[in-house]
Amino acid sequence: MASSTTLICDTEAWKDLKGHVEDIKKTHLRDLMSDANRCQSMMMEFDGLFLDYSRQRATIETMDKLLKLAKAAQLAEKISRMFSGDHINSTENRSVLHAALRAPKDAVIKADGKNVVPEVWNVLDKIKDFSEKIRSGSWVGATGKPLKDVVAVGIGGSFLGPLFVHTAIQTDPEALESAKGRQLRFLANIDPVDVARNINGLNPETTLVVVVSKTFTTAETMLNARTLREWITTALGASAVAKHMVAVSTNLALVEKFGIDPNNAFAFWDWVGGRYSVCSAVGVLPLSLQYGFSVVEKFLKGASSIDQHFQSTPFEKNIPVLLGLLSVWNVSFLGYPARAILPYSQALEKFAPHIQQVSMESNGKGVSIDGLPLPYETGEIDFGEPGTNGQHSFYQLIHQGRVIPCDFIGIVKSQQPVYLKGEVVSNHDELMSNFFAQPDALAYGKTPEQLQKENVSENLIPHKTFSGNRPSLSLLLPELTAYSVGQLLAIYEHRVAVQGFVWGINSFDQWGVELGKVLATQVRKQLHSSRTQGTALEGFNYSTTTLLKRYLETSSEPQI
Ligand code: F6P
Repeated sequence: MASSTTLICDTEAWKDLKGHVEDIKKTHLRDLMSDANRCQSMMMEFDGLFLDYSRQRATIETMDKLLKLAKAAQLAEKISRMFSGDHINSTENRSVLHAALRAPKDAVIKADGKNVVPEVWNVLDKIKDFSEKIRSGSWVGATGKPLKDVVAVGIGGSFLGPLFVHTAIQTDPEALESAKGRQLRFLANIDPVDVARNINGLNPETTLVVVVSKTFTTAETMLNARTLREWITTALGASAVAKHMVAVSTNLALVEKFGIDPNNAFAFWDWVGGRYSVCSAVGVLPLSLQYGFSVVEKFLKGASSIDQHFQSTPFEKNIPVLLGLLSVWNVSFLGYPARAILPYSQALEKFAPHIQQVSMESNGKGVSIDGLPLPYETGEIDFGEPGTNGQHSFYQLIHQGRVIPCDFIGIVKSQQPVYLKGEVVSNHDELMSNFFAQPDALAYGKTPEQLQKENVSENLIPHKTFSGNRPSLSLLLPELTAYSVGQLLAIYEHRVAVQGFVWGINSFDQWGVELGKVLATQVRKQLHSSRTQGTALEGFNYSTTTLLKRYLETSSEPQI
């Protein structure tokens, strides 16, 4: 068993898996897939979801060994500590309780001895009330017009999750209907081009700005918020801020200092990590303004269903646990450093960007939770695109170049079905034909013998040969609604936690990003003094000095 001074790689379970890799190297998915019993044991259903991981390079024995690894990593205890509100984010001395954000009203989840569920619901009720006022037009802007457009200003976790959910449900018939006549936009990048694009076509008189920042100190968000405040006050006068700007933050003192009435602020708590905050007011407020609280509540319920499954289902049938263990297997034992997230759904186009943050900010660590340097890599490189677009982009590499374990995500019922008379199949069936075909193409590949039988000319045979044996998993959702989007989110959040628990790292801090936040400070100071006082460049290396000099000399930035 791994203790605070040992690492998981020192356990017998880890060493056993290392040895087992040699057995797996002798197998090919072509053969593994012909064992129906094995395949059947690698499929499961929960609450409408269907998971098939039979195309992983794993046998029943591998799964047993991975479950033993979970035991050695004390996974059950770690999951239970998370849900009990223990300060498992030890470097920030915080609980990790994003599951409490979607818990039913009568649940009891404690942080520091206090049940947090009533506080969560106080904020949810406040959002419900406020969003109804805005949507019904009983809250109007400074000139008496209803506020039909919302710009949510935030970055990282205060942006990617809400954008993912918004994009996923915007063509769902119920959500579409409830958003009629309204727009929701997201301003994240400090690039002024992002401001220009987001306010293009909007009228300050009918726009509500929601400033979303856990800390209310993030440089990008605060400058963007000041820029939109200027946009509003220039058009409508300083007092318009009270009607046109609200905030979501854990730092209500700074919200007030910014000039937003604390009554128009929606709180969350330090036990919610930024990248895990979409189920707090961070996501719930902008999404409720756009779709109404009742739609967003379904999203919370979907996530909660997975929370309960994760907490109470035996590991051999527990979707986030199995997915997490398989990711550890792929990264740490088979040596595959990346993972492709391939939803066959345009509505899920922002899923991979969100999971990039959830996964890579959580598990891209170099030391154990106790500060020991790690002799093994953690985290994986996540990327993805919706199918079929990805097929025409990077699938060549996936089929013939590097081996990248793939997550195929498919939807049974389209949000917007189309069938053209005379076509062989409906448009959604056409999409899904690819969803079903790609995993087999990766698993089986194509042999020279097959190509010879197809009379492929000799010189092309090497080019058209595919080794196969490339792992993937398939997750099938019955439909893409607010509820199933909540399920999908929670599966990946918990899967990432499982990986971090097994690797023995802290998946809930982000010191690498904190470093990035301070790095620009010196340059910012230099740009200011060079532009205002002509101060010479100082303290940078030759390369940066050359680049800065060129930028300053040739830039057409307005002078301060
Ligand atoms: O990107 C790093 C990060 O610290 C994220 O964890 C967080 O979601 C983001 O910055 C934004 O921070 P804030 O919500 O405090 O503005």
